[in-house]
Amino acid sequence: MSGTLTRRVLAAVGRDRRSANRPATDLNEAARRPPDPGLILGAMQVPVVLLDRDNGFRFVNQAAEQFLGVSAQQLAQLRLGDLLPHDNPIFMLIAQVRGHGVTVSDHDLTLESLRLNKVGITVQGSALPEEEGCVLLVLQDASAARALDRQLAFRGAARSVTGMAAILAHEIKNPLSGIRGAAQLLEASVAEPDRELAVLIRDEADRIHELVDRMEVFSEKPIVRTAVNIHRVLEHVRKLAQSGFAAHVRFVEVYDPSLPSVWGNRDQLVQVLLNLVKNAAEAVTAPEIGHPEITLSTGFQHGVRIAIPGAAKRIDLPLVVSVRDNGPGISDDIKPHLFDPFISTKPSGSGLGLALVAKIVGDHGGLIEVETRPGRTEFRLHLPVLDEDAC
Ligand SMILES: Nc1ncnc2c1ncn2[C@@H]1O[C@H](COP(=O)(O)OP(=O)(O)O)[C@@H](O)[C@H]1O
Ligand SMILES: [Mg+2]
Repeated sequence: MSGTLTRRVLAAVGRDRRSANRPATDLNEAARRPPDPGLILGAMQVPVVLLDRDNGFRFVNQAAEQFLGVSAQQLAQLRLGDLLPHDNPIFMLIAQVRGHGVTVSDHDLTLESLRLNKVGITVQGSALPEEEGCVLLVLQDASAARALDRQLAFRGAARSVTGMAAILAHEIKNPLSGIRGAAQLLEASVAEPDRELAVLIRDEADRIHELVDRMEVFSEKPIVRTAVNIHRVLEHVRKLAQSGFAAHVRFVEVYDPSLPSVWGNRDQLVQVLLNLVKNAAEAVTAPEIGHPEITLSTGFQHGVRIAIPGAAKRIDLPLVVSVRDNGPGISDDIKPHLFDPFISTKPSGSGLGLALVAKIVGDHGGLIEVETRPGRTEFRLHLPVLDEDAC
């Protein structure tokens, strides 16, 4: 956080106290005195923003920096209108606070622009009587807590199939290789019309083999981790997608090049992103979507930590990777079961994609959040960065 912004507010608040000329040795009094308000604001997990009379950022606490995704230093050069379109209802709220000098609250606001995407936000605006025109905003994100609850439920759902998948995979593969071998022998010895049938058996056996391979990822094998450059993974996935199933889609990439490596398994992360991008591409394929678009983005976000059941410590998940599409959104019927296996709305869908995604992200100690509405669906992964303790 920028020291200058903090200090400016502290200076205003602390002025009276310093001029009171109290004896420095009165320890009891010192202990009773409240700490600097700036320190308290900094420690608060709720985003707090002080706007000046032109809606410039005069003070933001650390939670607000994270919420807005912009550092205090950068915010010092910006106004709220640089982050949000001028018709956002938050400007009406601010005008009411300024005009009437009262506290105004609004719930379920959408703060959406190229840089921001927050829904379900409660905003409370108050006037500062001593600082004419200044407005103090307190922002609360109700959806974050809900998303966390959901994720832990998804984790459980994915786990419930892990044992079964491992056994099935093992049991199916053996007879399958027998069937495939027999079909190959037939292929070499039978006459033309029947050879076609033998080839069909071999191809279908290969397809089952592939499916079983995918199922095997659900087993409880520990993952082999290395430092993974997530941008290379995204690049690889985008190229695969564009040369195949997403040839019709425009890709937008918004990457933070300064990100550290993810501590994870490269191939599994490719699988995760490929599944998310494939779903996104399928969602934007409907003819009514005039400009099918998928946005891939990365960023750094402090303060997302989760306690994994059974693990001793909370895991820091500062790296955010998001896959967003402008499709119709996820249908209401399946939302509560989205990450369960075999849930699909597609005629030939396996319903295994998101279950696999939840399983792999869970194995990485990560988190996946979804926000969806017509015209905008976003899957956000929170992943751990390279950390010696985690090895
Ligand atoms: N980006 C998205 N937009 C709309 N719906 C989605 C999106 N991603 C997933 N879904 C929904 O979730 C379901 C489950 O996805 P998934 O587990 O990958 O299985 P499948 O793709 O085989 O149907 C999909 O059938 C679809 O209804
Ligand atoms: Mg899928």
